[in-house]
Parts: sequence; C-alpha cells; structure tokens
Amino acid sequence: MLVIACDHGGYELKLEIMKHLEKRGTAYRDLGCDSLASVDYPIYAKRVATAIQEGEADRGILICGTGIGISITANKQKGIRAALCTDCFMAEMTRLHNDANVLALGGRVVGPGLALKIVDTFLDTPFSGEERHARRVKMIEEV
Ligand code: RB5
Repeated sequence: MLVIACDHGGYELKLEIMKHLEKRGTAYRDLGCDSLASVDYPIYAKRVATAIQEGEADRGILICGTGIGISITANKQKGIRAALCTDCFMAEMTRLHNDANVLALGGRVVGPGLALKIVDTFLDTPFSGEERHARRVKMIEEV
C-alpha cells in the first residue's frame, strides 16, 4: 500500500498525483491535507512515517512547497528514507541504491508532467539488492 500526504504548498500537485495513481491502478491512502488552507507540514510527514512504521504501507509520497521541510521531518523518523527528487535519475538511483521508502516532491519546484514521471520511476524501480548498497542502507540506521 502507498500513502500520500502534503501541506498546502503541495496540495495541487497531490491532486494530480492521485488522479495519476488511479489511472495506473495503484492503490493508495490519502492522509491529508484536504485544501489550500495553510497547515504545518511536519504533521503530514509524521502521518506517512507512522503508516510505514506500523506496516500499513510500504511506500509514501510527501509533497510540500519545496519538498524540503517535509523530507527533513520524514527523515527524522526511524526507518524512513525519504528522497527529495527533482528528476527521474534521482528517483531511479534512490530506489536502486538507497531503497528509499518515501518520495518527497516540491509542488512549487516541479511541474505536474515531470512530477508524474518521477512518481512512476520511484514506484516502478526496485531496490538493486546489491550487497554494498544493502550494507550502506543498514548503516543509515546504525551510524
Ligand atoms: C509553506 O509555505 C512552505 O514553507 C512549505 O510548503 C515547504 O516548502 C517547507 O519546506
């Protein structure tokens, strides 16, 4: 299961992404926010992190204006590897090398056309599973 959340800065892009997920047939749960009214992004980062930590979801998408605040917050939560991506190469590499479980996007940074390609790349690229990458991913929790 995929969970998705945003603040007001990411709300419009989240609507585009949810439409796209429906077209793709990708099941997701929307954890807010629900309008353009100003909200605090840490609340939404925490919701996605908790859903992953509790096993309700295995992947998440988080969107704020830049993607920065929401990814900083997500990365403070145990077991969360959130990658802020502005292109498809980053999305591919973070799945292959970092086994990122959360994609962060900036709704005021990337346009919807590019964002949807980034989402597809993130969702469709598996972790490489190579020993050196698995070792480094494990080290993220330990250092
Ligand atoms: C909200 O105006 C904005 O600060 C937020 O969406 C995000 O860009 C923070 O990193």
